[in-house]
Amino acid sequence: MNEEGFSRCNLKEIRKEFPITEIAFEVIGRSEPVPLIYFDHAASTHPPRQVLKTYIDFLENDYANIHRGHHNLSLIASKMFDRAKEVIAEFIGGHLSDHAIIMTGNTTEALTLASHVMTKMEGITLATWMEHHSNDLPHRKRGKVEYVELLKDGSLDMADLEEKLKKFQVKLVAVTGASNVTGFMPDIQTIARMAHENGAYILVDAAQLLAHHKIDVGKTGIDFLAAAGHKAYAPFGSAFLYAPRELLDKADPCLPGGGTIVYVTHDDVLYEKSPERHEGGTPNIAGAIGFAESLKFLDEIGMARIRQHEKNLLKLALEGLLSIEGVTVYGPLDPEKRLGVIAFNILDLPHDLVSAILNYEGAIATRNGCFCAHPYLHKLLKVKDLSKLKTTAAEGNKHSLPGTVRASFGIYNTEEEVEEFLKMIRLICEKKWIGEYRFAPSGACNYSLPQKMFDH
Ligand SMILES: Cc1ncc(COP(=O)(O)O)c(C=O)c1O
Repeated sequence: MNEEGFSRCNLKEIRKEFPITEIAFEVIGRSEPVPLIYFDHAASTHPPRQVLKTYIDFLENDYANIHRGHHNLSLIASKMFDRAKEVIAEFIGGHLSDHAIIMTGNTTEALTLASHVMTKMEGITLATWMEHHSNDLPHRKRGKVEYVELLKDGSLDMADLEEKLKKFQVKLVAVTGASNVTGFMPDIQTIARMAHENGAYILVDAAQLLAHHKIDVGKTGIDFLAAAGHKAYAPFGSAFLYAPRELLDKADPCLPGGGTIVYVTHDDVLYEKSPERHEGGTPNIAGAIGFAESLKFLDEIGMARIRQHEKNLLKLALEGLLSIEGVTVYGPLDPEKRLGVIAFNILDLPHDLVSAILNYEGAIATRNGCFCAHPYLHKLLKVKDLSKLKTTAAEGNKHSLPGTVRASFGIYNTEEEVEEFLKMIRLICEKKWIGEYRFAPSGACNYSLPQKMFDH
């Protein structure tokens, strides 16, 4: 038992720590509201009570701006904010002597900062075909980017990585720790070694990985790591970049302004060292404190147990989905190599229709579309005519765009929820859903009960 009085050993008890699990929605065809099944953890995860309490406690009792005050509240808030960074560093196995943690608003900002820090260095960035746009577009904006190819199953082609590291002068390998589409986890330790052998740094987008798999930046040899609290059971608006101090301090601030300087005249500016150098303006202090609490929460449960639990759910879901005729699952199928993130389609049904049926008839929250990883989706779905696709997208016809449905698991999901999900998938495959669904070109969904339900 911990001090809150519940056991971290019992997953059923851990589930009770999440107020969102008490939510139920009315669904078509059932008289009673149905408990929410939340399978959208790859987008954002819900905070447990312990995190909410810490967050609200700070807002109620310790709220003050940090670092430039000598009054009690400011001193307390500064200490809590600085401690939050230490907690983050400990959680990822990082060292604050030679690296710094820069707090940002989201993962996109953290990845952008890493890209900014590397801008002036000679060479190209080597990204991969499976990146989220946030680990691609910031690099494109600042220089040349090449992409590591995929193998047929949607995993990373390590031979192509090796070849491109030799062929180009690579300054940075930008790679996801786990894909937000297929959950595939590239072998980061090997990639880091290969990058270093070829004189490149490695930036890992850990947006998906952080809350679902143990990370050890020291052991793995990761130079830069970016992740966000809203995907790690913390409130929205807080994320971080872990980066080498030496590189951070060589770069001008990405967001110069308050807090980033030690001296300013109209002709001259002397910037702070990191982390302050890159934290322009007031950071999300409460968010950072909430984020650190969520990492403590995960640590108390144990990342190995979390991974085991989510892998069990993944295995169950994959076996179930693959046994249903008409379901296509994308990406490598080995559960050892992926997180609990599954992209799939059913027959030739539009992905938005499937996601809507799961929601309106099963209270099952999934996401659908291309998940901000268009190139990866185009490859997985074997999209041939990209110019036609571009015209459709430019016309705003979102309903007609290709994509998949995505189910993603978190710590409080259960096997019963996976079984319920599989039941709904079978029902959709047999085309036995009840509602009538109409989609506007914008993608907005309208549903109604079929007329026959009113006829008697
Ligand atoms: C792998 C990956 N990278 C980056 C991002 C962007 O994260 P954020 O919304 O925190 O900027 C996401 C969000 O889904 C993601 O899954």
